[in-house]
Amino acid sequence: MWGGRFADGPSAIMREINASIPFDKALWSQDIAASKAHVAMLGAQGIITAEDAATISQGLDQVAAEYASDGVPEDWDLEDIHMTTESRLAELIGPVAGRLHTARSRNDQVATDFRLWVRQSFDDLDDGLRALQSALVERADEHAASIMPGFTHLQTAQPVTLGHHLLAYYEMIARDRSRLADARRRMNESPLGSAALAGTGFPIDRQATSDALGFDRPTANSLDAVSDRDFALDYLMAASQCSLHLSRLAEEFIIWASQPFGFVRLPDTLSTGSSIMPQKKNPDAAELVRGHAGRIIGAATALMVTMKGLPLAYSKDMQDDKPPVFEAASLLALSIAAMTGMVADSTFNTDRMRQAAELGYATATDLADWLVTEADIPFREAHHITGAVVKLAESEELMLDQVPLEKLRAIDSRIDDRVYNALSVDASVAARNSYGGTAPEQVRHQVERARTRLAEGQVQ
Ligand code: ARG
Repeated sequence: MWGGRFADGPSAIMREINASIPFDKALWSQDIAASKAHVAMLGAQGIITAEDAATISQGLDQVAAEYASDGVPEDWDLEDIHMTTESRLAELIGPVAGRLHTARSRNDQVATDFRLWVRQSFDDLDDGLRALQSALVERADEHAASIMPGFTHLQTAQPVTLGHHLLAYYEMIARDRSRLADARRRMNESPLGSAALAGTGFPIDRQATSDALGFDRPTANSLDAVSDRDFALDYLMAASQCSLHLSRLAEEFIIWASQPFGFVRLPDTLSTGSSIMPQKKNPDAAELVRGHAGRIIGAATALMVTMKGLPLAYSKDMQDDKPPVFEAASLLALSIAAMTGMVADSTFNTDRMRQAAELGYATATDLADWLVTEADIPFREAHHITGAVVKLAESEELMLDQVPLEKLRAIDSRIDDRVYNALSVDASVAARNSYGGTAPEQVRHQVERARTRLAEGQVQ
C-alpha cells in the first residue's frame, strides 16, 4: 500500500508487530458501515460519480456478506481491517475500489469505526445492567421482610432486611448506568472527514456522514478527532467501576454461600464441584467475577498509560487501544450475565439468616435507643448500660430478649417490661422506617420506585 516509496518489503518482525487484523477484525461491520456512509457522501457531493459510488457500495455489501458467513481472513500483509476490506473490494469490483479512500485516511477511519463499536458496547452493557437491576428488584420484593444481620467491619451490627441489602446493589448499578449514559452522550460525535490529521481539500459533507452513522454532530477539531481516545477511556473507567461493584456483589455471595454462613444456596448452573472433595460446591462464577474486575481495571490502566504523553496527532501506539477495550467488554458482559443469574436463581435460607441476626446481639442499638426515648437517658449513658446488658447476656448465653427483667433492672432500674417489644429483630427492622432505611415498608417503597424507573427507561 506504500510500494511507491519503499524499495524493500517489511521484515517478518515488522509485519508481525504492525498487524492489527488479529484483533481489529472485530470492527468489520463498523468498517463497512462507515465506508458506505463515506462513499454515499462522495457520490452525493460529486467527488466521485454516482455510478462509481453505487458500484463501491454494492461491493462493500458483498464483502460484508462474506465476513458474516466465512469470517474475516487474517493476512498480516494487509495489516488491518481497513486494508483487508479495501483489498477484497478491489478483488471484487476492480480498480474503482481505489476511489473509496478519497478524502479519507485510516486515521479518521479507525477513529470512526472504533467509536461505533464502543457506542454499541455502551448500549449492550446498559441492556445487561438493566436486566441485573430487574433481578435485584424482584428478589428484593420477595425478601422485603426477610431478616439478616447487617454488618460493619463484617461484624454483626444491626438487623437489616435482605431486600434492603439487594437494593443497595440496585443503586450502585443505577450509578453505573448513569455513568455509561453520560459517557455515551459525550462520545457521540463523528471523526469521519478529519482525514489524516488536518482535514481535506475535497468538498466533503461531514454533517451527512455524521447523520448517516447516527452521530449527533461532526467533531470540531481534526487533530483532536484522529488522536482522541477519551471515549474508550470513559468506557473503560465506567466499566472498571461497574466491575468493582459486581466484584463486591460476587464477594457477598461467596461469603453467604460458605458453610459457616449458610445464607444462600447458589444455583447449580453457576457452581462447580471439586474433583477430590465430593461435598464441595464451589462459587467459581462469583470468584471469577471478583477476579475479572482486576483484568477490567487493568485494561483501563493499560489504555491510560498508552495514551499518556502522546503528542498530536495519530501515533501507532494508539493501535493498542482496541485489545483492552475488547477484553474488558467481553469480561464485563459475562460478569453481568453471571451475577444476574446468581441473583435470580439463588435460594436464600431465611431461617439461617434470621438466626444469625438474633444470635449476634444485633438489637443492642435498639435497647440503647429505647433507653433514650422511653427512659430519657442520654445516648452515651444508654450505650454504656447496653454494653453491660450485652456482657451479661453473653456470659449467660442468652439472647437479649431472653434476659430476665430483674437482671435488666439490676443493671439499671429505669428499665421496665416494655423494653422487650424493642428487642426482637422484627421490631428492630420495622423501627428503621426512615426514608431509605431497612424497614420492610421502606424496602417495598423503594421496590416500587425502582420498578417505575425501570419501566419508564430512567437510568437513575
Ligand atoms: N490499524 C491502525 C489502528 O488501529 C489503523 C490506522 C493506521 N494509520 C496509520 N497512519 N498507520 O490504529
